[in-house]
Amino acid sequence: MRHFTGVKDLGDLHEAMREALEIKQDRFKYVGLGRNRTLLMVFFNSSLRTRLSTQKAAMNLGMNVIVLDVNQGAWKLETERGVIMDGDKSEHLLEAVPVMGCYCDVIGVRSFARFESKADDYGEKILNQFIRYSGKPVFSMEAATGHPLQSFADYITIEEHRTKQRPKVVMSWAPHPKSLPQAVPNSFAEWMVAAGYEVVITHPEGYELESRFTAGARIEYDQMKAFEGADFVYAKNWSAASDAHYGQILSMDRSWTVGERQMAVTDNAYFMHCLPVRRNMIVTDEVIEGPRSLVIPEAANREISATVVLKRILEGLD
Ligand code: CP
Repeated sequence: MRHFTGVKDLGDLHEAMREALEIKQDRFKYVGLGRNRTLLMVFFNSSLRTRLSTQKAAMNLGMNVIVLDVNQGAWKLETERGVIMDGDKSEHLLEAVPVMGCYCDVIGVRSFARFESKADDYGEKILNQFIRYSGKPVFSMEAATGHPLQSFADYITIEEHRTKQRPKVVMSWAPHPKSLPQAVPNSFAEWMVAAGYEVVITHPEGYELESRFTAGARIEYDQMKAFEGADFVYAKNWSAASDAHYGQILSMDRSWTVGERQMAVTDNAYFMHCLPVRRNMIVTDEVIEGPRSLVIPEAANREISATVVLKRILEGLD
């Protein structure tokens, strides 16, 4: 594998799952693979889980790791070509990216949607510049429209806990005070459909995600109806994705906060969230602390998903 930006790059999900379980049994099985190889992790945005789990994954494979927080200590970067750089940005991404490529073998990039232009966000402008100009394999540590390392970890977590051949997986929008990207819900929908599960997405009208991510899932605007018989509930906030309202908050309706009322109509569903989560906005204390909450196992599986992805990239190096 050269680059990793989505589920398509992983190929057969069952084979990826087999590798994930193999690595979970022995995280250091491939510790020789990354010897004298360097991972550069570039963060344009904050992170706890991605930062720690990806670094741990690289260490599992014997790699050296460099972390660059672009907004802390690096030159402020211009990303637009053609701009007269007479402002506060001292360096252009078009020089910075190939320079970064000089110091490493693999690059992980975290670059969220900026909500300045839907075309730029959905064209994955920053991530694609790394792919184009770094000269190195690049993987997404959450980009504008997807968070594949998270969805891979979620897939592993569901496979470990499902008791039915084809579980019902419900992704529910929930309220949040800030405008959040669609990366996690886009990816989750795409991966769950690819896994062959029954996928239902529930949200207030106006929060429709792009159909290229949700194809194969059922959209249900009645949250209680969506939750009926669910085996897994995945709560997440996202802002509007439509051209007309891109990045906007259209609802703060706290009746959508996932609590005992909604979980009672499920088939004793597990609760999932990628974290970080705002308690009593997205989910009540009782549900996230309850015996069916999988939020910590999901986070733990981030190490496994990142190890599989890095292993495959290392295997593809010259
Ligand atoms: N779930 C996730 O990606 O967490 P961080 O933003 O803390 O990395």
